Amino acid sequence: MELANKKVLITGGSAGIGKAIIEELLTHGVEEIAVMGRTGEKLDALEEQFSSVTFLKIQGDVSQLDDVKNAAKMVKEEWGALDILINNAGVVSAGFLEEISDDDVISQVNINVTGLILLTKHLLPLLKESSEGALINVSSGLGYIAMPFYSVYAATKAAVKHFSEAMRRELYKYPIHVMTVYPTATDTEMMKTANVDGKMDSPTQVAKASIKGLVNKEIEVILGGQQRKDQIEENFQNPLDVDEKVEGQFKSLLKRTEQHRSM
Ligand SMILES: NC(=O)c1ccc[n+]([C@@H]2O[C@H](COP(=O)([O-])OP(=O)(O)OC[C@H]3O[C@@H](n4cnc5c(N)ncnc54)[C@H](OP(=O)(O)O)[C@@H]3O)[C@@H](O)[C@H]2O)c1
Repeated sequence: MELANKKVLITGGSAGIGKAIIEELLTHGVEEIAVMGRTGEKLDALEEQFSSVTFLKIQGDVSQLDDVKNAAKMVKEEWGALDILINNAGVVSAGFLEEISDDDVISQVNINVTGLILLTKHLLPLLKESSEGALINVSSGLGYIAMPFYSVYAATKAAVKHFSEAMRRELYKYPIHVMTVYPTATDTEMMKTANVDGKMDSPTQVAKASIKGLVNKEIEVILGGQQRKDQIEENFQNPLDVDEKVEGQFKSLLKRTEQHRSM
């Protein structure tokens, strides 16, 4: 896929993986980028950092239907077109299910899933008019292999996986490439409260793999190398073996995740 001069909307482009994706898009000749995020100052900071880009700043919360509708309206009015939608915004709140607040359960589902689906729905008419478009959804390694303490987050990311698959099959008549990205632990603000012991990927690594996957029209970009792909296969073929391994790691997993919250 050729990316130069494509019009792109990315949610959560003001930080972390999303911001690194913007940086990577620039190297492929993208010049018009709409960014949706809740914090106005973070969107303003993007303009200072990437002065060559024409940004369409959309301050809003993907979990709010009015904000989603407003985002679609702004893109339609300002550009009248959209080639690539990158659903990247996401939040996490980990812990034993009974200890995750009701608000955090609702927000994770509304931001990670409902908002993503509604934004896609409201932008599809424009995407369908593109001569070569793409829909990219950012899931997580936990969308493939669920782990204790991430019951809600993993459920939302598995939903993203299936949403992508359904849309890929639903849109087969259109030149819209659908791709899902599965990052593993990545060094962003989201991971500040997770007690990760090993080395994390950098947001740039994830962004480079994602954009390479898009250019090559891959349907999935799975971070974490062959080891991760083997784990996914094992989890599919022998889930009870994985249960046993996870049981052995239960205490250390709890220690790593008990403070993990980024909402
Ligand atoms: N970091 C990891 O280890 C990791 C691993 C697997 C998957 N992922 C996934 O990768 C994606 C990006 O994560 P990240 O680590 O880059 O996160 P991050 O550093 O926390 O950045 C999140 C971005 O999303 C925006 N955002 C959050 N909630 C939003 C909402 N309701 N509406 C609109 N924008 C919102 C934030 O801006 P505002 O706060 O201003 O809204 C920010 O720009 C997420 O979907 C995450 O689940 C991350």
